[in-house]
Amino acid sequence: MKVLFFFILSTAWTLIEAQHYYQGLMDYLENRLLAIEDRMQLWRDQFHHYHTETLDFKKLTAEVMDGLRKEHGLIAKDLEGAAERMDRVEREMEFVESQTSPRACAKQADKVVEQEAWGLQEREEEEDEDWTELHSRVSDCADIFSSIRSVKILKRVGSPKGMWTRDPRSSKVYIFNGTSGDTVFQFNSVRDFSRSAGVSDSKSIKLPSEWSGAGGAVYNGYLYYIKHDADTDVQIVKYDLFSGSVTDTAIFPVESRASLYKLNPETIADLAADDEGLWLLYASSDSEPNISLAKMDASTLDIEETWDTRCPREKAEAAFVICGTVYVVYNTRLASRSRVECLFDVNDVVISEEAPLLYFPRRYGSHASLKYNPEEKQLYGWDDGYQIIYRLTTKRKVLA
Ligand SMILES: *[C@@H]1O[C@H](CO)[C@@H](O)[C@H](O)[C@H]1NC(C)=O
Ligand SMILES: *[C@@H]1O[C@H](CO)[C@@H](O)[C@H](O)[C@H]1NC(C)=O
Repeated sequence: MKVLFFFILSTAWTLIEAQHYYQGLMDYLENRLLAIEDRMQLWRDQFHHYHTETLDFKKLTAEVMDGLRKEHGLIAKDLEGAAERMDRVEREMEFVESQTSPRACAKQADKVVEQEAWGLQEREEEEDEDWTELHSRVSDCADIFSSIRSVKILKRVGSPKGMWTRDPRSSKVYIFNGTSGDTVFQFNSVRDFSRSAGVSDSKSIKLPSEWSGAGGAVYNGYLYYIKHDADTDVQIVKYDLFSGSVTDTAIFPVESRASLYKLNPETIADLAADDEGLWLLYASSDSEPNISLAKMDASTLDIEETWDTRCPREKAEAAFVICGTVYVVYNTRLASRSRVECLFDVNDVVISEEAPLLYFPRRYGSHASLKYNPEEKQLYGWDDGYQIIYRLTTKRKVLA
């Protein structure tokens, strides 16, 4: 009994013990769970915190990126601006260069003038070296014909062939009607000519001998023309328009009477005045296919130097000289568009191959003559009886 009681007691005790034990375990587990829950809450909080932080960071990054992008744009724009400025500076440099190089030889021109003022005596005393230097640089101005800016058809006076020109110094206009004659018509200005009823309104000048072809020139108050009588040598005559008398004549440098321009066979020589003075274009013989050029002393008619231009006479209709460069104008027998297809520069700066083909606007027929006026930079053309003014644009030569 006693044993049983003890057993029961011990069992009950054990039960109580176990209950205690389980209670403790339960408590422990519950505490753990709570702790874990707390932890989880903490983690959740932390995660949330991190998440918002990441979002913030992302936002910040985006803003910074945006800023960078904007700045990049600004920098690109700045770079563009800088490139433009560079371009401008380069262009200015080019301009300055083109301005300064010819000026360097303008000094040379002063020298020529000075020496001319000192007269022949002084010139003969000059050193040989100086003379060759003077001689080799014949032209000091630096204009190149680059395009035809505009055309003005002024009038229709006289026959299909003829020549008209304007004295760059006096601005008087001279009309040579036809291909030969002893009369020249003078108008006081281009405006007078354009308003006139024709040559009947002009002052007619009767020359002491006949002019021949469209090769005349008027320069500084003198009229220069080609005299070509059947039985005498070809001559260049210098006529003083003020006193009305011949002041000088010179025999043509060659015996040839071959026509200079094959499309205008009446012209056997062509006088041209430019900024440098007086030039003579001629054919040195019948068999010579190319045009020859001579620089003339406008006061004495002396020939100072001659060149072979290598520009063919075949299909040529006219030529003109700008700053020591000859521009030969070609056409076809059935007149089409006139064009400058060959040029020759006495200073070898402008080269034919480099120059663009320059077309004249299509007009009535072909040019009987083209005379350049250096003061106005325009050409006086005679086209099938029409008097036409071509205004030219020029650019500056780049002297090496
Ligand atoms: C112009 O010359 C042609 C011949 O070449 C002549 O028939 C005409 O009458 C001349 N005109 C004037 C106005 O002299
Ligand atoms: C004429 O000029 C051409 C170039 O246009 C050249 O080939 C030819 O040799 C020249 N002729 C003479 C005879 O000088």
